[in-house]
Amino acid sequence: MTKILVTGGAGFIGSHTILKLLNEDYDVVTIDNLSNSSYEVINRIKFLANKNFDFIKGDIIDKSILKSIFSKFNIEAVIHFAGLKSSSDSNNNPISYFENNVVGSINLLKEMANFGIKKIVFSSSATVYGEPSTKKCKETFELSPISVYGKTKLLIENILLDIKFAQPEWRIFNLRYFNPIGAHPSGIIGEDPRNVPSNLIPFLTQVAIGKREQLLVFGDTYDTSDGTGKRDYIHVEDLASGHIAALRNLEKAEKNNINVNLGTGQSYSVLEVLRAFEQCSGKNIPYKIVGKRLGDVGELYADTSLAKRILGWEAKFDILQMCNDAWRWQKMNPEGYDKT
Ligand code: UD1
Repeated sequence: MTKILVTGGAGFIGSHTILKLLNEDYDVVTIDNLSNSSYEVINRIKFLANKNFDFIKGDIIDKSILKSIFSKFNIEAVIHFAGLKSSSDSNNNPISYFENNVVGSINLLKEMANFGIKKIVFSSSATVYGEPSTKKCKETFELSPISVYGKTKLLIENILLDIKFAQPEWRIFNLRYFNPIGAHPSGIIGEDPRNVPSNLIPFLTQVAIGKREQLLVFGDTYDTSDGTGKRDYIHVEDLASGHIAALRNLEKAEKNNINVNLGTGQSYSVLEVLRAFEQCSGKNIPYKIVGKRLGDVGELYADTSLAKRILGWEAKFDILQMCNDAWRWQKMNPEGYDKT
């Protein structure tokens, strides 16, 4: 059986990806420090998959843990999610973002190299595009991330690119996610932000369930159909499938195509998402238009042609399915996972 090491497997995207890996008969070991997640997630994945997998509570900053994992398990490839992920938080805490994300990744890559493991799928983000002049983002665009978080993602992408240049036998995909939302259709795993949500959908679901009074819409003077920001929302289940497709197609990862967008290629405005969510939940969502959020762009969506060509992958779920599943998760888990 092929054993895949998943770093950060208790997180939102990691948990959905592990479940899909187990359902596709991959053998999994995951390391997570649970700094922004809960052990409960691991139990729920096992329940849904009706299968076991190895979980190690630990930090990729700690080289000795990585060494022991690579010594103990026969790892074939790595899917690397572990890292800090808040743009605003990153600007206030650059040192911890560079340490966790960049140093952590270097530790991981170094141990992979020591053990002769040269296959990795890296969790990058469309945030590396910054404020491109064209809304439809192509992987070949010049990159200029605005937040420290985005800079850490770009640095890691570049480190991986340099490794590939030096040692072409490495098989690498940097997957640039657009806006992952939704949840597993069972409602048993989903997105569980620890603090006040900064992303749109978790905030919306908390308004719908009565935890927050209203949604603040950040700006209505963008150059979009209704003036509110437009994004390429992608169902987390599609994203999880994208990782499986990347793993399966690692042999096709050449120097000129290791950066791949994962999005739907379509964008929706904040008000369009709000309406879709109202339709799915049957709830009226109060909202107020406020000023623009610093660092936000008007519109971004993915050029999905490379993902189709190289990975043979495209997103299947539409915005209503995304909202339906996010709402089911929130209703079934008003307080999220058990945090004890
Ligand atoms: C944000 C991060 C990005 C990260 C991504 C992960 C910022 C500036 N960017 O992207 O680095 O990779 O999440 O999913 O933090 N909105 C509201 N009210 C809210 C929340 C959001 O109007 O309470 C609007 C935003 O202005 C934007 C859209 O909803 O137009 C989506 O926002 P969000 O979910 O935070 O995603 P991004 O800003 O695209």
